[in-house]
Amino acid sequence: MHEVKAVVAKSVGEPVSLETILVPDPGPGEALVQVQACGVCHTDLHYREGGINDEFPFLLGHEAAGVVEAVGEGVTAVAPGDFVVLNWRAVCGDCRACDRGEPQYCFNTHNATQKMTLADGTPLSPALGIGAFAEKTLVAAGQCTKVDPEARPAAVGLLGCGVMAGIGAAINTGNVSRGDVVAVIGCGGVGVAAIAGAALAGAGTIIAVDIDDKKLEGARKLGATHTVNSKETDAVAAIKAIAGAAAGHEGADGADVVIEAVGRPETWEQAFYARDLAGTVVLVGVPTPDMKVPQIPLIDVFGRGGSLKSSWYGDCLPNRDFPMLVDLYRQGRLDLDAFVTEEIGIEDVEAAFEKMHHGEVLRSVVVL
Ligand code: APR
Ligand code: ZN
Ligand code: ZN
Repeated sequence: MHEVKAVVAKSVGEPVSLETILVPDPGPGEALVQVQACGVCHTDLHYREGGINDEFPFLLGHEAAGVVEAVGEGVTAVAPGDFVVLNWRAVCGDCRACDRGEPQYCFNTHNATQKMTLADGTPLSPALGIGAFAEKTLVAAGQCTKVDPEARPAAVGLLGCGVMAGIGAAINTGNVSRGDVVAVIGCGGVGVAAIAGAALAGAGTIIAVDIDDKKLEGARKLGATHTVNSKETDAVAAIKAIAGAAAGHEGADGADVVIEAVGRPETWEQAFYARDLAGTVVLVGVPTPDMKVPQIPLIDVFGRGGSLKSSWYGDCLPNRDFPMLVDLYRQGRLDLDAFVTEEIGIEDVEAAFEKMHHGEVLRSVVVL
């Protein structure tokens, strides 16, 4: 048993607290990881606010990189000393989705079976089966993806959730191709990651849309070629005009791929109407349960081809995508450092939630 410091949300809406928790030695199929860095994500805040489920207390944190300290019986894919990025999609390999070759939809993903607990023995629910605002955490070995050990932990840990969600929305779900016109609505951490992903995939025109000029400036740094402030300009008309000019056709009807990275009905509706006749809409922003699909005339759905998709965790396969993206980062072709607004201590998570709430940061990253 390991006694370590960790960030725990004890009850609905209460500020998080720094606690001493107990982490068991790894059992069969498990790995004990010394966490080096862990990003602060909206989902951590949603857990704290009771928006995910009511299985308090939660051990928060899930965008992490670290070093494997020990592995349990039967673990061969990782070994002590390996530098890993943690993931929440350790696929089972034999459910229906896995068997039909679409493990990104696996519905039996693995987590550690043993429980981490508070000092008094109360079991903790780790956020997304990870719980990495902690000096050490226990996960399923499949949740550890080995990557280049020279990479900066604070930067590559972000691939564990939000940044992968955005990049994957472009390269996996949206299948952005060379020369495409891509529009991204919402330029927070997820949206700018989608912009970076579109740039990696060779998009010709990348249109960033946001209501905040500061966010649009950041989007340019990650590869946006055009920006639209949708508070001042009609987003759909602006995207269509830029797409038309890019295609050299007055009549081009919109972007090849529109990525919605806000998670709201009105921005999804903009995405719906801003896509080309055969274009793809990707919803990667996370809506709240009360939100409804906008009232779009069915004839407007019928009158177009293309596809309407959603992207959960960027349709990523961690063992395929993380090492590739870390290599691109190491080669200077993907600026993961741009996502790290600040490095903070483990005692500063509550303050980071506050900053996130005010839209001041792409990511605050706890460094241990
Ligand atoms: N139109 C365009 N952009 C908008 C709009 C709007 N109507 N409303 C908000 N935005 C922008 C914000 O200005 C901000 O830049 O969307 C961005 C959202 O970014 P973040 O709050 O940093 O969220 P992010 O981490 O990128 O996640 C995107 O998925 O996980 C969820 O709750 C999260 O809804 C959020 C989304
Ligand atoms: Zn499966
Ligand atoms: Zn997350």
